[in-house]
Amino acid sequence: MPTLATIVDGLKLPNPFVIGSGPPGTNLNVISRAFKEGWGAVIAKTVSLDASKVVNVTPRYGKLLSTDGKEVIGWENIELISDRPFKLWEDEFKKCKDMHPDGVLIASIMEEYEKDRWVELVERTQACGVDAFELNFSCPHGLPERKMGAAMGQCPEILEEVCGWVKGASKIPFWAKMTPNVTHIEDPSRAALQGGATGLSAINTIRSVIGVNLDTLRPEPSVEGFTTPGGYSSRAVKPIALRMVMEIATLIQKEFPGRSLSAIGGVENGRDAAEFILLGGDTVQVCTGVMKFGYEMVKPMCEDLLAFMDKHKFETLADFKGKALPYFTTHADLVRRQTERKAAQKAAAAAAPAKKMVQADGEWSGDDFVKQSNALAR
Ligand SMILES: Cc1cc2nc3c(=O)[nH]c(=O)nc-3n(C[C@H](O)[C@H](O)[C@H](O)COP(=O)(O)O)c2cc1C
Repeated sequence: MPTLATIVDGLKLPNPFVIGSGPPGTNLNVISRAFKEGWGAVIAKTVSLDASKVVNVTPRYGKLLSTDGKEVIGWENIELISDRPFKLWEDEFKKCKDMHPDGVLIASIMEEYEKDRWVELVERTQACGVDAFELNFSCPHGLPERKMGAAMGQCPEILEEVCGWVKGASKIPFWAKMTPNVTHIEDPSRAALQGGATGLSAINTIRSVIGVNLDTLRPEPSVEGFTTPGGYSSRAVKPIALRMVMEIATLIQKEFPGRSLSAIGGVENGRDAAEFILLGGDTVQVCTGVMKFGYEMVKPMCEDLLAFMDKHKFETLADFKGKALPYFTTHADLVRRQTERKAAQKAAAAAAPAKKMVQADGEWSGDDFVKQSNALAR
């Protein structure tokens, strides 16, 4: 019988499903619900020392729907970090650990570019008994104006320095959460790991504009007729998240073996999770999924993932973590492999004739165009 139980950075998780920082971890009430439903760990909504500077607006979400309007494909938010006073959070972190001593509680923290503030935040938060930190270097809206969030995550030098401050003050593991709004995710990832991060989390939301209302001619979500670019999440971001997780996992394998990776982006079921683990994730976070389907989604996710493991005879998550990574290569290498395979096939005169597919651009014809396109898909 396979098991989902795992130990990451010394944290004992009953399963790899972690509540990602956001509304599903926004106060003690909802965090407790997550533990009761059986989530492997909870990352609370990001906190900072001075919540008075955090002022949210409504509406602050925008959805991209499927053509039939039935499915939410993408989700934009212009929500800030927690607007609740830090003192209240200190209280709730302590209460949460009293109520759920075995629950893995991770505090997401963010501060301005000032050593004393980071050290104070780390020391006061860890005194509440939380199990680990996630450093939010990745919120793409609202906070960068204060040189926080993605503004830090886009600057490797600052990332390394701030991780160094946290390393000096923290007695517990800490993950640096990466912004996808960079050209090469390896650069900030390497900086955070050099600075001493125990592991990385990726990805936060992708800077976006969800749409323009064709009646009012105004962009959305509309706040008093205006908007600001926000962060994109949900199913639509999964392919981008998979690519970035793959790149970070490859970096970790090569340069920082043993550091952990928490994969995030559009996860809604156990098969999504299996894909992220195959690309090197130790844990898998879900944020928007919980907003779409509720906390109880963790049960079918666990069942799905166990069924996948059973099918492939994997006993533990370690049995398949990173198993798909060796199969990425360059485009030039794909061409070489295919040329070699075709040459070998030609040589074998008895080989069955290959399925008719367009090879060169001049071979496309206007008839059966969809068929020709489909034949080239995997
Ligand atoms: C409404 C909303 C609020 C969020 N707030 C935070 C936050 O406070 N801190 C943080 O690190 N990430 C925050 N995120 C980002 C998520 O944790 C996650 O990285 C991202 O949404 C991608 O995962 P998903 O597709 O599972 O939502 C938020 C996401 C949403 C949708």
